[in-house]
Amino acid sequence: MKSLLFSRFLLLLPWVLIVIIVLDIDSSRAPLPALAPRGGGGGGSGSGGARPAAARAPAPRRPEAALPTIYAITPTYSRPVQKAELTRLANTFRQVARLHWILVEDAAARSDLVSRFVAGAGLPCTHLHVPTPRRYKRPGLPRATEQRNAGLAWLRQRHQHLPPPQPGVLFFADDDNTYSLELFQEMRTTRKVSVWPVGLVGGRRYERPVVENGKVVGWYTGWRADRPFAIDMAGFAVSLQVILSHPKAVFKRRGSQPGMQESDFLKQITTVEELEPKANNCTKVLVWHTRTEKVNLANEPKYHLDTVSIEV
Ligand code: UGA
Ligand code: MN
Repeated sequence: MKSLLFSRFLLLLPWVLIVIIVLDIDSSRAPLPALAPRGGGGGGSGSGGARPAAARAPAPRRPEAALPTIYAITPTYSRPVQKAELTRLANTFRQVARLHWILVEDAAARSDLVSRFVAGAGLPCTHLHVPTPRRYKRPGLPRATEQRNAGLAWLRQRHQHLPPPQPGVLFFADDDNTYSLELFQEMRTTRKVSVWPVGLVGGRRYERPVVENGKVVGWYTGWRADRPFAIDMAGFAVSLQVILSHPKAVFKRRGSQPGMQESDFLKQITTVEELEPKANNCTKVLVWHTRTEKVNLANEPKYHLDTVSIEV
């Protein structure tokens, strides 16, 4: 009798252990819904493959559908490092739930390289293009004005036909910066306009909004501290509501100097007092204004010498 009980116990033991392990995996996943990889995506990868049993477990506590969509507007232009930059960016964005990438080429037409890239990017993507007029393609003039405006126009047009607007957050993601995943968790709760520090910018290790009692009261910066909003393009996010309720807010060419684009834009939609500080009251750097070194092509042959043609 005793040995029968013991053998039953031994038989049950592994099953009990499996249940405990599965429950453990499940609860350790729960606190990170915003970073959970998306299910359907849009790219070719991930759909048919075998996924671990835990991924098919009951719905997460905070369903993805309840999260505001993050719209990232990225101006981009053709150059030797373009595909490398976009690859790095897509690898980041693919980790972020409910992110919609608005990629705007500085070109008269969509390029084959970017079109192919978008098709295989594995995340929801809108591919636009608008060329910068030649007279504005000069050193010392602001970059990507027309491209960011094209992204804004697309966003406004899309939501014109979809009342009431779904919760959403917009930010401007240049293709060469470096973004931590934590940044997206921070910006997702933007109510109107949120701000945070940016690393490696303005001739300093970082720039940041100075916060007192939860309010922005000034700017720590080494460059043109007189700017109304002394912040880089990578340092703020705007709620979709604010974008839609200020339909005329755009980036301006006339009278705009480099480094003033952010201020000129933010002036149209908010005030310094209204800003929402993120990243632990603006004391953490979660995005870096990295710039890619110009690539050395000194040994590139003038005419095509290789036996194959390769996209780089
Ligand atoms: C700084 C700011 O961080 C940018 O947000 C700002 O647009 C820029 O200055 C400016 O001078 O207007 P910086 O690193 O100097 O950035 O500029 P880039 O990274 O070279 O360009 C910003 C974005 O515009 C990138 O996404 C880039 O791909 C795009 N771009 C640049 C174009 O679409 N066309 C161009 O001719 C140049
Ligand atoms: Mn840059």
